[in-house]
Amino acid sequence: MSDKGKSPRDLFGSKLGVIAAAAGSAVGLGNIWKFPYEAGQNGGGAFLLVYIGFILAIGLPIMISEFVIGRKSRANAAGAFKKLAPGKPWFVVGWMGVGAAFMILAFYGVVAGWTLEYIKEAVTNSFDGKSTLQLTENFTTFMTDPVRPIIWQVIFMLLTGGIILGGVKNGIEKYTKILMPLLLIIIIVMGIKSLSLPGGGDGLKFLFSFQFEKINSSVLIEALGQAFFSLSLGMGAIITYGSYVDGRSNLTRTALQVTFVDTLIAVLAGVAIFPAVFAFGIEPSFGEGLVFVALPSIFEQMSGGYFWGILFFVLLAVAALTSTISLLEVIVAYLSEEFKIKRKTATITGTVIVSFLGALCSLSLGAGSDILIFGQNFFGLLNFTASNVLLPLGGMLIALFLGWQIKRNDTYEELSNGGTIKLRLFRVFLVIIKFIAPIAIAMVFLHEIGLLKLNA
Ligand code: TRP
Repeated sequence: MSDKGKSPRDLFGSKLGVIAAAAGSAVGLGNIWKFPYEAGQNGGGAFLLVYIGFILAIGLPIMISEFVIGRKSRANAAGAFKKLAPGKPWFVVGWMGVGAAFMILAFYGVVAGWTLEYIKEAVTNSFDGKSTLQLTENFTTFMTDPVRPIIWQVIFMLLTGGIILGGVKNGIEKYTKILMPLLLIIIIVMGIKSLSLPGGGDGLKFLFSFQFEKINSSVLIEALGQAFFSLSLGMGAIITYGSYVDGRSNLTRTALQVTFVDTLIAVLAGVAIFPAVFAFGIEPSFGEGLVFVALPSIFEQMSGGYFWGILFFVLLAVAALTSTISLLEVIVAYLSEEFKIKRKTATITGTVIVSFLGALCSLSLGAGSDILIFGQNFFGLLNFTASNVLLPLGGMLIALFLGWQIKRNDTYEELSNGGTIKLRLFRVFLVIIKFIAPIAIAMVFLHEIGLLKLNA
């Protein structure tokens, strides 16, 4: 990666590299940690259905939009808007995105740190012989500890910063291509084991049975936020990655592939976790610790569980790492290009700030859990504000930007690679980003603040 914004930008090395990097960004703790606990807290099947609806109707078109904005501008999240709409205030969307990146990295790094602790626990065989209750206590004791989770969080952020320093191409492409398919396989194995547990069928029923009455404003806003979070949308991560994509890649196809893989892994994670949740008598609404209790409960009972446990947490950490890389890259590309500072300086600055905020997040779960802001601890506040407010708002503005600010022909050129790819649904795409996606997001917001009622 070059040190100055002006010199030619580093591009992804191959088409597979683009998909691997974007899928690496999308697939992460959002799929395996956040999706299951959100589904568990928001009515299971109702959440899943609304979530998939949002992914298809809003997420996919906005991912395509971010790719277009990124590749067309070849600039960072804020610079892209400045370049494509000079003199207009659209770049504020980029600032919002950079702000969201700091917030997400702060709490995400904490959970990513937990995965490192759990690698250690798996290696030292410490799930063995423990009941689900003991595993729950284990998790809570660790999570509320004032020191240990912070050390892991800082280690994780240093790893992220270190890889970013190695450059986009060498840093990201290499790992994702091999490790992502492996993650998919182990989740399938866990799913099979989980389903074979006595009483596991209730978990499937919970995840897949849809009841309309269960849809409320919390389900809507959480599912919308989760759709953005899981696909890495609404804050310029895909704009930034799009700026490194070569001119021959098919942006629509890439977005489709990434969306498919991301959704598949989330649903499979649900299939691995909920049967175990029901079989072991864990509350589905248990919250942030759900994966860290449910899966060790399976490993404890499984033949070869020692081995699977290590493999699972290593891969979860890697999945988290390819996501934190994309988040930190948004910050680094922005700082280095907009303020003309070296990438190295930008990386160190970003890593230090995020580690500090992350430490506060971690403390807010234990020693500082009495300090509430709008009824939430700092961790919860950042999680909610970034995922459920900033990302959907950013996504809405991104859709409006491409729909109304960029000329229709320019969008067509970019998506068709100068007319070489046939675009069959271009009209549909335009209607979605001009009207459907922005209006749907606005309606969810209005419903949340009580100005619109879906069901009595
Ligand atoms: N999508 C990632 C996950 O599911 C998290 C993530 C990475 C992200 N980059 C992002 C979320 C950008 C929002 C925006 O774990």
